[in-house]
Amino acid sequence: MLQSIKVSAPGKLMLFGEHAVVYNYPCIVTAVDQRVYVEAGFNGKDELVVNAPQLGIRDYKRKVSQFCDQEMPKQVNFIETAVRHFYQKYGLKKGLEIKTESDFSHSYGFGSSSAVTIATVIALTRLYGIKLMEKELFDLCYQAVLDIQGVGSGFDLAAALWGGTIFYKKGAETVEQIKVKNLPMVVCYSGVKADTPTLVRQVAELKRKHPRKVKRVFEQMEVIVWQARELLVEKKWREVGGLMNENQMILEELGVSTLRLERLNKAALEAGAWGAKLSGAGGGDSMVAICSAGLKQKIEKALTRAGGKIITVKLNSEGARWKEN
Ligand code: PMV
Repeated sequence: MLQSIKVSAPGKLMLFGEHAVVYNYPCIVTAVDQRVYVEAGFNGKDELVVNAPQLGIRDYKRKVSQFCDQEMPKQVNFIETAVRHFYQKYGLKKGLEIKTESDFSHSYGFGSSSAVTIATVIALTRLYGIKLMEKELFDLCYQAVLDIQGVGSGFDLAAALWGGTIFYKKGAETVEQIKVKNLPMVVCYSGVKADTPTLVRQVAELKRKHPRKVKRVFEQMEVIVWQARELLVEKKWREVGGLMNENQMILEELGVSTLRLERLNKAALEAGAWGAKLSGAGGGDSMVAICSAGLKQKIEKALTRAGGKIITVKLNSEGARWKEN
């Protein structure tokens, strides 16, 4: 690679308001300190070359003139689609070499696809010296993600780009940093990888069949999100925990929770956590519990005994960062 740029972007964890956020209600998302890294540079050729060894991708090649939305390995999809959108917008042609690495397994549901999309587009803006407003950059990435998944609020892109803990509305219509420090939470992987678009479609189907019921549930969710926003700032962790439990009950009503996740929540609560909930679309991925520092180890043990895998992460971490080589 000639001159190259290295960009990193954080994964995320949904704290409050999942699913409702797809229908324009607010949510709260926090960035985690596990990151995705993208190194990009021109290769003097007419093709895009992608290496993502952790995902089993070695020297994936595509001619720049042949970018299109046809089938490609899933893992490369987000990178190639982001590059395609950027190249089409600015009429670009140069070949690229892109390498990615990640601190975390893509099974955790930490949003590696969104983080890689954000990092790729930032790398392109730096390489080409194209100045984009953050919202423009977000919009381009959001379009790329919608192209692939068809559904989604873009909350994971917002966490990857801006970091911190964000009060968020779909399409980055609202992005407000919530002033929190060290969130005292334990994160645990359920052992099952969830498919977010499938669960989003499942809730859409429920909403189609029972519009009034789902509207009521989403409105309850909105109240929880607004209360959580206040309580997080005031560090009223016990009350935050109560809201997490309420949020979990709503997700159960929406039919996206699983017995395995509920077993983990129960284990955390029985070990003394103030609250516990699944995080994200449901169906698997991770759950999160809030507890006093003194009980953290006990809760981690209980979760492990209940079949979960503790993921040691710091929350409220910084957004995308880059450095030129
Ligand atoms: O499964 P995750 O962690 O990607 O979270 C999905 C959250 C949803 O609200 C269900 C979907 C979305 O795009 O907001």
